[in-house]
Amino acid sequence: MKTVTLPSGERVPAFGMGTWHLGDHPAARKEELATLRLGLDMGARLIDTAEMYGGGRAEELVGEAIAGRRQDVFLVDKVLPSNASRRGTVAACERSLRRLKTDRIDLYLLHWRGSAPFSETLAALVELQRAGKIRGYGVSNLDLVEMKEWRSVAGGEATQTDQVLYNLSRRDIEWDLLPWLRQHRIPVMAYSPIEQARLLEDPKLIAFARQCGRTPAQAALAWLSAKEDVIVIPKTGHRDRLRENLGALDFALTPPQLSELERLFPPPSGPRPLQML
Ligand SMILES: NC(=O)c1ccc[n+]([C@@H]2O[C@H](COP(=O)([O-])OP(=O)(O)OC[C@H]3O[C@@H](n4cnc5c(N)ncnc54)[C@H](OP(=O)(O)O)[C@@H]3O)[C@@H](O)[C@H]2O)c1
Repeated sequence: MKTVTLPSGERVPAFGMGTWHLGDHPAARKEELATLRLGLDMGARLIDTAEMYGGGRAEELVGEAIAGRRQDVFLVDKVLPSNASRRGTVAACERSLRRLKTDRIDLYLLHWRGSAPFSETLAALVELQRAGKIRGYGVSNLDLVEMKEWRSVAGGEATQTDQVLYNLSRRDIEWDLLPWLRQHRIPVMAYSPIEQARLLEDPKLIAFARQCGRTPAQAALAWLSAKEDVIVIPKTGHRDRLRENLGALDFALTPPQLSELERLFPPPSGPRPLQML
């Protein structure tokens, strides 16, 4: 499995598993658990979850999937902005640990900016790290201005990632956020990498993928995976789709294919507010 190096020096899998909406439907639970376990078997050892997903149901499902193999997993979790005060963050983390049935989260992110001052959230994250309840921390959905502010607050310098919306049809971060993150060697976690499956219906991508002998999901994921400092976290609750998505790592897009994607899905030509899903 390809890896990405975090600012801490730790190498994490460049392909992880998203979990938004996993655990929502009891009838799907068995297949969802099997999918997460298969992903771990196949080397997708990074799992991304959040207290928000299903009000804790996704965390509970993850806890069940990783039971007995916690050491195999790099667990990413997120605190809701409404809980991100100093005491609220600590309490939210402890609730998440209980649902995950583990004693530590590997990377704990502020889900997006709310009304809690960054100084409070960061103080809590530092406290949680000292207590061994989280091994590292970062943010999600922060734009460049917010990112600079966050990094300037005590503790902010240890930020490990900014998890943001990034896929072929959502390249806005390439204008200013991504270059700045690269300058500071902070990798991006690309969420909704297939635009919640909408990208798979795009005729341009369908035609491109057919020419490459790949599926549209593989082409879209391979484009992100070609970047050295991007961690991609597609979500699926189906084993066959997981195998398909992981197939994106079995080939590299050639320079002409990458140029063709640049033409079909052009980079931004100016700044735009950071989009969120
Ligand atoms: N930080 C944030 O604010 C934020 C926001 C959004 C997402 N995220 C994280 O990023 C993860 C991924 O993003 P996402 O879930 O929004 O979207 P996504 O990964 O782009 O797409 C997921 C959707 O695509 C379907 N799918 C997956 N592989 C497929 C394939 N090969 N063929 C056809 N359909 C396929 C899935 O359905 P099935 O499950 O039925 O296969 C699901 O409906 C989330 O799960 C979450 O962990 C974070």
